[in-house]
Amino acid sequence: MQKLAPDFRSALDAAFDRAISHLEHLDESSVAATVDVATLRARINKPLAQAGVPPPQVIEDLVRDVDGGLLGSAGGRFYGWVIGGALPAAVAADWLTSAWQQNAALYACSPAAAVVEETIGGWLKEILGLPQQASFAVVTGCQMAHVTCLAAARHALLSKHGWDVESNGLYGAPPIRILSSSERHASFERAVRLLGLGTAHIKLLPVDDECRLVPDALEEELSKQDGPTLVLLQAGDINIGAYDSFEKLIPIAKRYGAWVHVDGAFGLWAAASPHLRYLVKGIEAADSWATDWSQVA
Ligand SMILES: Cc1ncc(COP(=O)(O)O)c(C=O)c1O
Repeated sequence: MQKLAPDFRSALDAAFDRAISHLEHLDESSVAATVDVATLRARINKPLAQAGVPPPQVIEDLVRDVDGGLLGSAGGRFYGWVIGGALPAAVAADWLTSAWQQNAALYACSPAAAVVEETIGGWLKEILGLPQQASFAVVTGCQMAHVTCLAAARHALLSKHGWDVESNGLYGAPPIRILSSSERHASFERAVRLLGLGTAHIKLLPVDDECRLVPDALEEELSKQDGPTLVLLQAGDINIGAYDSFEKLIPIAKRYGAWVHVDGAFGLWAAASPHLRYLVKGIEAADSWATDWSQVA
């Protein structure tokens, strides 16, 4: 047995006990934090240790110091935002990925990780009803999914207009017009800023009384000019979870040669449910889809 093994066992045993205890008490413990930031800082922000600390003690100290500063987001009583709720098998697999310590960037660095990734990409497209020929990437969240999808859109739209953005950058490129409803999430605008597309090029179009983009308004706007255009549609808007009418809107956008990107952070998962799938009817005709924990373009 390797010399380091006992340290791993004691640290992982301590983490296992603490994790199980956290999960088992979720139904009774506070969903909100119960201590304030000053208390957390006083506990956590200690002077750097001058000597090594035994691994199980690191875990015990961490668990004690964060007590009261964790939200109950892993439990069934948490309704803040759209976070939390990992499945038991996913949590356990996540522990293994830490223990395996693979660099999943390349096949050569971790052949198994590469094949796991390509497999879940295929499964994801199957469960979400997206075209199997779409490329995909697993990224950090819907924010980076937007960035990745919009980078693909930027490339495709500009190359259609004879502009090689990878070589020439955006200096002198034709501006990309962005059409969206007012119900978009701020992460979309962040992606627009990061990619140099410029928020001044976003035009907000009206929504109906259910927060869905109005097809006539989209058509009218598209018909005004024929430069490169990106259309953002919502699968679950941020206020009431409304779904744009993909069946009507995507064919209109395509008629004008626009790239259609779908923000499906949480709403794209309706496609996985036979009862809710009607909400995303026609969504497979878009060009890119961002959802939480992954993006497909
Ligand atoms: C509609 C929508 N889009 C994008 C995001 C950004 O997702 P993430 O926090 O995973 O980057 C969210 C987050 O709640 C969202 O609700």
